[in-house]
Amino acid sequence: ELMRRQGSQVAAVVVEPVLGSGAVPLTREYVAELLRLRREHGFLLVADEVATGFGRTGSFFASQEWAGHPDLLIASKGLTNGTSAAAVVVAARSVAAAFEDDSAVLTHGETQAGTPVTCATILATISEMRRLDAVAMGKRLAARLDTALAELLATHPLVAATTGLGCFRSLRLLRADGSPLPQSEVPDLVAAIRRAGAIVHPGVNGVQLFPALTYTEQDLAELLECIQAGLNAHVAGTGMRQ
Ligand SMILES: Cc1ncc(COP(=O)(O)O)c(C=O)c1O
Repeated sequence: ELMRRQGSQVAAVVVEPVLGSGAVPLTREYVAELLRLRREHGFLLVADEVATGFGRTGSFFASQEWAGHPDLLIASKGLTNGTSAAAVVVAARSVAAAFEDDSAVLTHGETQAGTPVTCATILATISEMRRLDAVAMGKRLAARLDTALAELLATHPLVAATTGLGCFRSLRLLRADGSPLPQSEVPDLVAAIRRAGAIVHPGVNGVQLFPALTYTEQDLAELLECIQAGLNAHVAGTGMRQ
């Protein structure tokens, strides 16, 4: 649709491998079509991995699971594990090669980019992730999340669906009449879960979960207990019947 509207004017297409709002992973078919369109139109494919990078979805970068690599990859959050402000744009060799030409100019300037402290933070984060084998830890946690969320879906009448990938998940909820939980009720639900002991992110008709890759089984059990308790308190508070 975008190509049809823009013709060959599209220079770059930016996608999140898992859409942050709602935790919706791009399907294999969607990625295949993007890669086909890139071959046809020659645009740069940019993976915004600010949220999905650094083991969040089961691989170091979510786009590593794609059938073709992106031309540019953007990372931030996990890059320093949130310990300092930093972001990077990683360029594929085919893109970077253009700048090896002496006459090439990258028209981009930053006042505070690449400071030694920031670079040290990035290196320390990557080294600690390697020491912990954090991606494998995240994969194990994701498998436990799969089981726990499937159980919640099967047993809680107001849980309509779970979406997401790895440790990047959402719960879609229903009202007692079977309609999707209205967005206007999401802040109250988040507050109820918070009172029960866990801070979760507001989502689309529900909440989103981004547990640390280092969660223990006990941490996960506690999170799920808080969600159940918060959900039940919200239902009771709004007069909804399960
Ligand atoms: C997918 C995605 N891209 C970009 C950003 C912005 O990142 P930053 O705050 O590092 O500029 C965010 C922040 O939440 C994000 O989730």
